[in-house]
Amino acid sequence: MNIAFFSSRPYDEEYFRNANKNYSYGLKFFDAKLTEETAGLAKNCDAVCLFVNDHADEKTLKCLSEIGIRVILLRCAGYNNVDLSTAKKLNIKVFRVPAYSPHAVAEHAVALILTLNRKTHRAHMRVREGNFSLHGLIGFDLFEKTVGVVGTGKIGEIFAKIMLGFGCKVIATDVTPSPVLISLGVKYVAKDVLFSSSDIISLHLPLTKDSNHYINEETIKRLKPNVMLVNTGRGALMDTKAVLHALKNKRIGSLALDVYEEEENYFFDDHSDEAINDDVLARLMTFPNVLITAHQAFLTTEALEKIALTTLNNLADYENKKSTVNEVN
Ligand code: NAI
Repeated sequence: MNIAFFSSRPYDEEYFRNANKNYSYGLKFFDAKLTEETAGLAKNCDAVCLFVNDHADEKTLKCLSEIGIRVILLRCAGYNNVDLSTAKKLNIKVFRVPAYSPHAVAEHAVALILTLNRKTHRAHMRVREGNFSLHGLIGFDLFEKTVGVVGTGKIGEIFAKIMLGFGCKVIATDVTPSPVLISLGVKYVAKDVLFSSSDIISLHLPLTKDSNHYINEETIKRLKPNVMLVNTGRGALMDTKAVLHALKNKRIGSLALDVYEEEENYFFDDHSDEAINDDVLARLMTFPNVLITAHQAFLTTEALEKIALTTLNNLADYENKKSTVNEVN
């Protein structure tokens, strides 16, 4: 079987070629994003392998179906970018990698908090320039601060445990509370209580109709003054314009993002020799109290190995008509 990879980057090729030694599939790597226009690149392939910003919408799925694509292999956990009902109608099977390294993402969220709080990114740049001033570098102790975890699934649970290790008071909200976290002393509270009592709020929810703009103009009004917001989930969990407004009027103390609502126009590529036309992103980048990484929370050796192996194994399961929980219905 042949697989066409969209939005492929050199590290995808390296880890998939290595994992493929156990499978011997035909692998074709394209750096193009999947769209209606680029779908044709997958001609003569049986499956397409997609990442977070490849949109398998109705029209694109029809193009894929016409050239014989029977399988979508998502090399990520989220599947909000695939029109599942159209895929079902076209009899295209969809698989994902539900967990590759929840530690990678949880640890990155912690890295963002530590950097944003203690301003190590700014300190590093200063020292390199011979500027040893401490002006503007004051942070706060994490010890005994209240951390609100929104979504305590695989990633949120690990994140909560790490924050407990710092001596933080951890509160959480989730439709399905984690018994492990409850046994460790994490208190589950209503969304509004979490908003009004947390010094740091970290989002670990999937993007769904319910969670879209979870942080919005209304919820921002209920946040504790000077709160630190952290989003490593999906960009649209936050109404970015509302968050930008709240940063301007100092309602939000600081913001760390690994994901951004309009990230697909910029993230994963080098745009350093052109102007950023996205005014919201450009404005966010001007704040000293905003830290942005370009959707790299997953990017560890362990995660890339697991993503490649699970993705190819998903295709093997499809070929062998073996049922798997990694199939998305
Ligand atoms: P998970 O499915 O294990 O956990 C999600 C949790 O959110 C579940 O416990 C669920 O009950 C809860 N939840 C869902 N909707 C909710 C709502 N409206 N209110 C309260 N709780 C709700 O997922 P996991 O593996 O922890 O991943 C979470 C998200 O992290 C993914 O969906 C993905 O969007 C994002 N992610 C980001 C990555 C990055 O590189 N930045 C990499 C991997 C995942």
